[in-house]
Amino acid sequence: MTDTAHARNKSIGIFDSGIGGLTVANAIQKHLPNEHLIYFGDTAHLPYGDKSADAIRFYSLKISKFLLDQNCKMIVIACNSASSAAYNTLLDFFEGKTLFVNVVDPLVEAVTDRAYDNIGVIATKATIRSNIYRDKIKHKLQKANVQSMPTPLLAPMIEEGFYKGNISHSVIDTYLGRSEFKDIDALLLACTHYPLIKMEIEAYLDHKVDVLDSTDVVADAVSRLLMREDLLSPKRTKKNVFYVSDYTQSFEDTAKVFYGEEIELETANIW
Ligand code: DGL
Repeated sequence: MTDTAHARNKSIGIFDSGIGGLTVANAIQKHLPNEHLIYFGDTAHLPYGDKSADAIRFYSLKISKFLLDQNCKMIVIACNSASSAAYNTLLDFFEGKTLFVNVVDPLVEAVTDRAYDNIGVIATKATIRSNIYRDKIKHKLQKANVQSMPTPLLAPMIEEGFYKGNISHSVIDTYLGRSEFKDIDALLLACTHYPLIKMEIEAYLDHKVDVLDSTDVVADAVSRLLMREDLLSPKRTKKNVFYVSDYTQSFEDTAKVFYGEEIELETANIW
């Protein structure tokens, strides 16, 4: 096999604090069915949304090293909390060794391209605290008015299967019913768990607000970068692999819901 063919056949590594990033992994697989995926969910340390930026950077470095050891041509940081805290550190640390894609930039690009006036952002505490969305949106689109809010109850609520019901309606209402969000014309779901409640949020907002998430836009960014680097795989020859750092049956059950297909989790104890 030539060096180019060998490079194209390498895997795409994808990681998240847990299983939320499976929404991104599934979108990538649908866009690029020839690619082989190696997923790592750091279930031993979730949630990242409550951790300090230093802790998230430390976990992200270790996971990226693990994925590089599996020979990944690209690593997708399928977690907003890790993308906001660790992307620049990973670029510096692994310069020239692999390609990195974060989930923040594609979403910022999508929302600024459409030039909305009033943009709402909901995410974990870590992502909101970093101000990354507000800063990046304002940098590209000065006129935008950005309202950001941490919504820490949403990720555990979704993981526990509480959506499309009274509990989720009440939590969504508590957050999105606030006056700051009254005039938004776009809402960014800046957490990889939230695509599971996208339809519920759209309905809550009476379909009057454009709700954007980081599934298709990230898959599209992955596809464009691989094409630009001439690294698209011609054919997938192996089954995708899904690792977690701490296995429970409940993670496996929920993982299927997030990925939207039957998958098996394997334990990789990298700590
Ligand atoms: N998936 C993570 C994100 O996108 C949220 C879950 C967590 O707090 O670990 O930020």
